[in-house]
Amino acid sequence: MSTETQTSGDGAVGGAAETLTVTDNRTGRTYELPITDGTVRGIDLRSIKIDDDDFGLMSYDPAFMNTASCRSAITFIDGDKGILEYRGYPIEQLAEQSTYLEVAYLLVNGELPTQPQLDEWTHQITIHTFVHENVKSFMQGFRHDAHPMGMLLGSVGALSTFYPDANEISDPDNRLAQTIRLIAKMPTLAAFAFRHGNGQPYVYPDNDLAYSGNFLNMMYKMTELKYQPDPRLERALDILFILHADHEQNCSTSAVRGVGSSRVDPYSAIAAGVGALYGPLHGGANEAVLRMLRRIGTTDNVPGFIEGVKAGDERLMGFGHRVYKNYDPRARIIKSAADDVFEVTGKSALLDIATELEKIALEDDYFVSRKLYPNVDFYSGLIYEAMGLPVSMFPVMFAIGRTSGWIAQWLEMVGDKEQKIARPRQIYTGGRELDYVPIDRR
Ligand code: SDX
Repeated sequence: MSTETQTSGDGAVGGAAETLTVTDNRTGRTYELPITDGTVRGIDLRSIKIDDDDFGLMSYDPAFMNTASCRSAITFIDGDKGILEYRGYPIEQLAEQSTYLEVAYLLVNGELPTQPQLDEWTHQITIHTFVHENVKSFMQGFRHDAHPMGMLLGSVGALSTFYPDANEISDPDNRLAQTIRLIAKMPTLAAFAFRHGNGQPYVYPDNDLAYSGNFLNMMYKMTELKYQPDPRLERALDILFILHADHEQNCSTSAVRGVGSSRVDPYSAIAAGVGALYGPLHGGANEAVLRMLRRIGTTDNVPGFIEGVKAGDERLMGFGHRVYKNYDPRARIIKSAADDVFEVTGKSALLDIATELEKIALEDDYFVSRKLYPNVDFYSGLIYEAMGLPVSMFPVMFAIGRTSGWIAQWLEMVGDKEQKIARPRQIYTGGRELDYVPIDRR
């Protein structure tokens, strides 16, 4: 809480060093605002008033460019240094040595599992990969060419009607049950949406396969009795899911936290995250990158495209980031994982265009001055395309990985005593106290 203070002549104020002394020049009054963890509390500004009837000051921060919405121990990012850590573990080590389900356990539970814990976690997720048959018929109701991200958005939300007890979010066992279901069923819903777009029968989960291998099975199994995933593709997918698992308070995670703050069930909150991720500036960027590369067509067209970006006629999709002002560490890892995939699938014809774009952009002052570097979405689409996925499935792949992060953040928000329903204020710019005008006099 801020306190109004009387400063001595030299402006020095008693009290703790971790404070901000603010003078309101409208009144000459001085206030001392506590600084905690590099922040001042927005609510402390309210004590700065011109008179007792004044509502007090608010902060104004469109798009929350400089606002911390919560305290979180899940993901640490240093945007200037290009550092990403899940629960303190560097993403490079997790991508190299861990698996997606182990990372999901880490994000949700806060520590790496022992072998028995990981075995039980894996078992529980494996036996919950099926969805109710009515979910399947619900999905078959979509248009034949429905965007799979729209199908995922609708079917994740629909899951809340299949588990009506999921709104008992104060029960930790209930929260764990929904956590397991969401991580387990997201690949199933994603694969059903993919098969729907191809006009192919949906493929049920195979509990003999690991998480990513089973996803490939549900995506690509045809008439063979038992689908055998290629271990190189399976590993590449697992790494991609690890890299997409969480990213602190990004747009979709903020949507999950905001919707979840109303104490709705987690399926409805995660569906809000899917909706936010769908956007081309967020998870839809990997789809936009592929469409951009295809539109550029050849490396000869790259210089002209770059000029279009600098003229403001184009946006270099897959470049730039609100937090990273250095190379996104995930982009670097994906770029090397792509080489493993291309060994199996053959190199993507668009790779040369992407590397030429990156080469020019990293040398051009327009991008350097704006600290625009490749982000997670710049190369991921090349892998998905090489694996035979349509571009519309790219954000769906992002959503599969991000589900464990969304649910970890939701759990942290539900358990945070400082949190309550999210309800920002506004600066009102409209008319006031207008008299109604009958329609014949307008
Ligand atoms: C993800 O938040 C997260 O953590 C997200 C994510 C996660 O894991 O959850 O990391 C995943 O969403 C990655 C970002 C994917 N999106 C894209 O690749 C779309 C292209 N990039 C952008 O549109 C943009 O860079 C954002 C949206 C990512 C960030 O936008 P900001 O922080 O609001 O920055 P800005 O739009 O204000 O840009 C600052 C300047 C502007 O130039 P000026 O107006 O100052 O002249 O940089 C320019 C922008 O025009 N700029 C770009 C650009 N990105 C920013 N110019 C050309 N191409 C770009 N890609």
